[in-house]
Amino acid sequence: MNPTQLIQLKSEGKTIPRFELASFINAYVDGNIHDDEMTLFLKAIHTHGMTDEETITLTELMLNSGEQIQFSGMDAYIADKHSTGGVGDKVSIVLGPLMAAAGLAIPMLSGRSLGHTGGTTDKLETIPGFQTSLTLNQFKANVETHGLCIMGQTETICPADRKMYALRDVTNTIDSIPLICGSIMSKKIAEGIQGLVLDIKTGNGAFMKTVEDATALGRMLQIVGKAFNVKTDVIYSSMNQPLGRTAGLWCEIAESITALKGEGTKDLMDVVFELGSKLLVQAGITRGETAAVSIQENLIQSGKAYDKFEEMVKAQGGDMSNADQLHQPKFELIVSAKTSGYIESMDTLNIGWAGVELGCGRRQKDDILDPTAGIEFTAKIGEKVSKGDPLFRCFNSNENKLNSAINYLQDSTQIGPEKTPHILFFNN
Ligand code: URA
Repeated sequence: MNPTQLIQLKSEGKTIPRFELASFINAYVDGNIHDDEMTLFLKAIHTHGMTDEETITLTELMLNSGEQIQFSGMDAYIADKHSTGGVGDKVSIVLGPLMAAAGLAIPMLSGRSLGHTGGTTDKLETIPGFQTSLTLNQFKANVETHGLCIMGQTETICPADRKMYALRDVTNTIDSIPLICGSIMSKKIAEGIQGLVLDIKTGNGAFMKTVEDATALGRMLQIVGKAFNVKTDVIYSSMNQPLGRTAGLWCEIAESITALKGEGTKDLMDVVFELGSKLLVQAGITRGETAAVSIQENLIQSGKAYDKFEEMVKAQGGDMSNADQLHQPKFELIVSAKTSGYIESMDTLNIGWAGVELGCGRRQKDDILDPTAGIEFTAKIGEKVSKGDPLFRCFNSNENKLNSAINYLQDSTQIGPEKTPHILFFNN
């Protein structure tokens, strides 16, 4: 089958045989299929989807297009976590050290900011000296020695995904379940993991706006996990408001440290403990959720989780001794409540874009980030406020950007007479 016939077949909503799909993807990686042809194919998948079998094959082809890590002779259960992206989502930075302190081995290749959502790699890079581009051998050695390494994606892992993702980004074909699934799972499986927990964010600040879409993605991710022998658990958590107290760069590292020292906000810790419990059960460390939560609380109270974070930072060349002074923002502005009442809803998408405007994310690939930038949430859904009370504290080191970010936040909070609870988990 030539490329035109294959594209035609998918454009008619038909299934592509395994051998033909393999030839097409491999030829694309080798530069023998043009971006224009791949764009047509991606659009056909975006419109017609893929069967479960095709999605598994796509994942396998992406996985086999690059290097894969193999951990041999390790006693620890090797696992990772992935989130579909959100605002204020610093869960990986807390969960990674916590799970390593529990005896798991966590090889975590994390992402950068995407659209209005923040990136773990960008946040960690605000720690002076912290290396996020180690070689795969160094990455593996750090996991073997310290039980944890968090760094950015490498050139050599899943080059097929790297090339296709860059094209999806500019051809409006990001939001396709088989494409998202192949992209996420191939990179995770390449880490050499035995287990995985996925936090599928749902709501007005998530890529998956409805529980139905989130559930469809979760189902497919689990099918692929099973096909590759990776124990895969999924949770569905809310992105109808930002997670935790802050969204930004250094401020999220500072908040993660606070959480690892036992002072995390309830919503953040609930998500951390929910994911952590799934991993502890997968690893066979405990059987039940209640025991799993108490193991995690003890690791935090005893200081072991924070010690593990410090160990990871040191092993990756970081030095936190004067990070806080270094990242003091030059400017700040408060956005206040225009009326009295209860916070009924927050426009999390807009809040995320306000963060991008402040310097926490990128509109263009080469945009320079501002490590001092962020937003503090002084009131969240269900809380009572009086007219004039602060809702957001925004900060950065570029006054023009600060003034422009404020515009996104003026009407990002709806205040009304009813106390509405915020629902953190769906379907779990
Ligand atoms: N994250 C990924 O790595 N890939 C996607 O397609 C979407 C989110």
